[in-house]
Amino acid sequence: MDADRQAAALERIAAHEPELAARLILMTLPAAAGHIRGPLSFDIDVDRLEPRRVAILDGRARVEEAGGRGGADFRLHTDPRTLVDLATGHSGPVRLILRGRLRIRGKRRHALRLRRMSATGVALGDIVGAGGTLDPDVLFRILPYLVEPEWTRGHDFTVRYQVTGHGGGDWYIQARDGERLAVTHQPPQDREVVGTARVSFEAYQRMAAGEVTPIRAMQSQLTTIEGQIHPITVLGRWIDRSQGGDEAELRREEAQRRLQAWRAGLYAADGAGQGQGDPGHEREAARDGRALLDYRQLYALWERENWKVQEIDFAVDREQWVTTPREAQESTIWTLGSFFVGEERVTADLAPFLPAAPSGEIELFLATQLVDEARHAAFFDRFGAEVMCLSADDIRGRMSEVEQILLPPWREVFDDGLRDVARRIKARPDDLGLFVEGIATYHLVIEGFLAVTGQTLIREYMLEHSLYPGFCEGFGLVERDEHRHVAFGVRFLRDAIAEDARHRHTVERVVTDLARRAAYVFAPPYVQDPSDYVSYGYSSRQIYGLAYRTLKRRMRVLGIEIPPAEELMPGPIEEPTPQPAR
Ligand SMILES: [Fe+2]
Ligand SMILES: [Fe+2]
Repeated sequence: MDADRQAAALERIAAHEPELAARLILMTLPAAAGHIRGPLSFDIDVDRLEPRRVAILDGRARVEEAGGRGGADFRLHTDPRTLVDLATGHSGPVRLILRGRLRIRGKRRHALRLRRMSATGVALGDIVGAGGTLDPDVLFRILPYLVEPEWTRGHDFTVRYQVTGHGGGDWYIQARDGERLAVTHQPPQDREVVGTARVSFEAYQRMAAGEVTPIRAMQSQLTTIEGQIHPITVLGRWIDRSQGGDEAELRREEAQRRLQAWRAGLYAADGAGQGQGDPGHEREAARDGRALLDYRQLYALWERENWKVQEIDFAVDREQWVTTPREAQESTIWTLGSFFVGEERVTADLAPFLPAAPSGEIELFLATQLVDEARHAAFFDRFGAEVMCLSADDIRGRMSEVEQILLPPWREVFDDGLRDVARRIKARPDDLGLFVEGIATYHLVIEGFLAVTGQTLIREYMLEHSLYPGFCEGFGLVERDEHRHVAFGVRFLRDAIAEDARHRHTVERVVTDLARRAAYVFAPPYVQDPSDYVSYGYSSRQIYGLAYRTLKRRMRVLGIEIPPAEELMPGPIEEPTPQPAR
């Protein structure tokens, strides 16, 4: 602290508690008297305080109890207020002597050398360095005069400092939201002590002298803290600030506050709206290239729309299932089974995409999707185990039961399409072109073209016929997630193409080729002619129509026109979108 501020603080203390001010001055003597040329020894006797003997030799001052060996050069007797005036240089010794406020017995002219003694401009470290001792009682009790009440605005707490060993004690310090600090020896009534900092007297000396930082003291167990740490940290900052040692921290704090304000809401759901961002969805059809959600917004949507498999109520579903004849059960097992195995596959096959993600934002989103897919697999497995009574006792066992009845088109898409590209990405995670191929396969064809279409139609059918209400609820949540996944895929591919037009060709090739084969997955096992059939009350024209149009919309956002339906779909399509009554 600079000398002027120290003098002002000393004046404030002296105005209210002159004895405390005098004790502070006596504490600084070993450092302050070092400025006086020795040899010199004097006794200093301040009213109501213990007399001291100061012995100065070779620029070092020793302070001990008065009345020790031999006589002193002089004896100084005064009151606390006068000592403050002397120490701040407010009044010189001659004036004080003349006014009778300072009484000198012994060699008076030696006393004039006290002019060089000033208690201001002395750092606590100087006192310890000069062999002096820091008195915790003085240092805690002067805090209300050093810490500006304004600094404490917004803070209301009481903490205890406990200095153990000889010279120690307990001090309770209260911050009172803009009021002056209050320091007491007894715990204040009606105020909870939220934290205690405990330190030995020796360690206190080193810490107060600035030899050990508070954090080092905690790390090395010199200080132990019980209860809340932050109030003690904040108080430590105020103490530092009162000694002019907090400027760098204040600048850092201000800069960080600005950055925090700037960053606030980085992960907020702002701009995400109500939908899932998938431009292939009816409700989101107006989303063009500019209105696509970004990865951060898609992540925020994920947080907002998390759901729990365990909370879905299958009570009605179980009853409906057991009362349904076996043949109808088998048809449902095939339909839902292809989703069940599919969800497990997309969980496992998404994993290699994560280390290959070209940015952290993409990696985070894909991690949320990985959790979604695991949850979807868990959802289908729970339905398979608890409702459909699949016989095996674990997931893989139940999966292999349904896997046996899956048809060749399914295998072509999942084994030859998705699994193959996932393996290649795993082998070459740095190949962005391959990653683009993977997202086009996974998000546009498997999820967007195949899964979302099937989910929408099956769920609409079940809702229309009040079938499996628990399943419908969960399936709706799955579908919502899938739209979010597709929205990510479209966003990523749009960005990739904008950066490198060669990716457009990759997307066009992968989607056209795989979608053409994937469309056959819609046909149930009983179908003879994939160009014309009925499934779940929908004609193949309706099914192919919905799948084709949503794909077309998404691809248009990427600036890609897909081939006409006659070329891409196994059979004719019908406009418009099927909308069964609920
Ligand atoms: Fe899924
Ligand atoms: Fe998905």
